[in-house]
Amino acid sequence: MPGTIRQWIYNTPLVNDELTLTQFAQRELPIPDLQDGQALIRIRLMNIHSNTRFRMARQITRLGHTDPSNYACADVIRSRDPAFKEGDVIACQAGWQDYQIVSSADGPQGGYGEPSELVRALNGTGSPWFYVFRPAMAKMWTPDVLMEVFGTSGMTAYFGLRECGPLMPRDAVAVAGASGGVGSIAAQLAKIAGCRVVGFAGGADRCAWVTTTLGIYRCLDYRAPTFEADLRAACLDGIDVFSDGIGGDLTDIVTRQMNRHGRLLSYGSAAAFYADTFDAPGERPSFRRMFGITDAIEARLKLKNIKCEAWIVNQFYHERLRAEDDLSRHLISGALKPISHVVDGFDNLPAAIVDLYKSPRAGKLQVRLA
Ligand SMILES: NC(=O)c1ccc[n+]([C@@H]2O[C@H](COP(=O)([O-])OP(=O)(O)OC[C@H]3O[C@@H](n4cnc5c(N)ncnc54)[C@H](OP(=O)(O)O)[C@@H]3O)[C@@H](O)[C@H]2O)c1
Repeated sequence: MPGTIRQWIYNTPLVNDELTLTQFAQRELPIPDLQDGQALIRIRLMNIHSNTRFRMARQITRLGHTDPSNYACADVIRSRDPAFKEGDVIACQAGWQDYQIVSSADGPQGGYGEPSELVRALNGTGSPWFYVFRPAMAKMWTPDVLMEVFGTSGMTAYFGLRECGPLMPRDAVAVAGASGGVGSIAAQLAKIAGCRVVGFAGGADRCAWVTTTLGIYRCLDYRAPTFEADLRAACLDGIDVFSDGIGGDLTDIVTRQMNRHGRLLSYGSAAAFYADTFDAPGERPSFRRMFGITDAIEARLKLKNIKCEAWIVNQFYHERLRAEDDLSRHLISGALKPISHVVDGFDNLPAAIVDLYKSPRAGKLQVRLA
């Protein structure tokens, strides 16, 4: 049994939205006695979300506190909560810390919605993010794969493409952020479905990585001044499906080249999270707005009868067992490669978060604690 919890907190506010190591401080807290309905977990690995800096800049992550919303894989060490037993491997939301007291009655952290009745029934918890992996899954896959392919990235790509589907073998599929967490999996799943996949990444090296490592037909540099023309040349018959977690100018450029009756999987706004500075805070926009669907794009989608919905992946989590089985089969056959960037060590967590916005990497950033 550990005596204390080591924790990183948000210690000093960002200046001009720039994130540095000075924002973080470490502290130790005693582990409180376990109460009925609580469990002690050891956090093994946590996903670092690209909105981490935004959340700090807007003080959604509060000064003097840790960020409690990271999606993490953990072992249950002690339990007085009937939903968890010792030895379970769970997915949960966790702070920047090595141990945590959790309860299945806890709701979601960080502004996420309550689970639906079906998700609640499958998870047996009050949060869509708290979930005990089946023992077979925990035996088969390491925490980095559990958190990447069976975490938000893989599930978003899987359910997103299904909602855009069925993907037809001759579909031309454009994938933004093909070097990133969701995009690298979406590109591979579209390839498995027999589609002609064109990915987008930043710079020649990143594009070469996408084509050689993921085996994608083409990858275009979205930063090149010739990008729009390059896209037209790569998709002579237009684009049927666009997987877009980026938003901003890219959504505008690509939707112009989409075919009638196309499908737009719009799930994120990485362009905004990776920009040097953030827009001034305003009224909370709708998901569609947040994900880069402006009025002009909305009108274009309507004109071309392009199907597009915007959602958070946890709304499909009651179907996750099927997704886990399908994605496991693809991993076992070798058709799907798990891609993530793992940084080792609790002490390296702040540097990993700072680097997220400075150095390119492939796949989801994860920090392994144990
Ligand atoms: N709706 C949901 O349920 C859901 C689930 C998961 C994620 N998301 C959202 O989806 C987005 C992507 O998540 P992720 O985990 O895949 O992120 P990630 O691993 O950080 O990847 C982001 C990708 O965005 C690309 N990128 C950054 N700025 C760009 C720009 N200005 N133009 C074009 N591409 C740009 C980067 O490409 P290069 O490095 O090659 O430049 C990188 O590959 C995030 O906004 C996240 O919040 C939503």
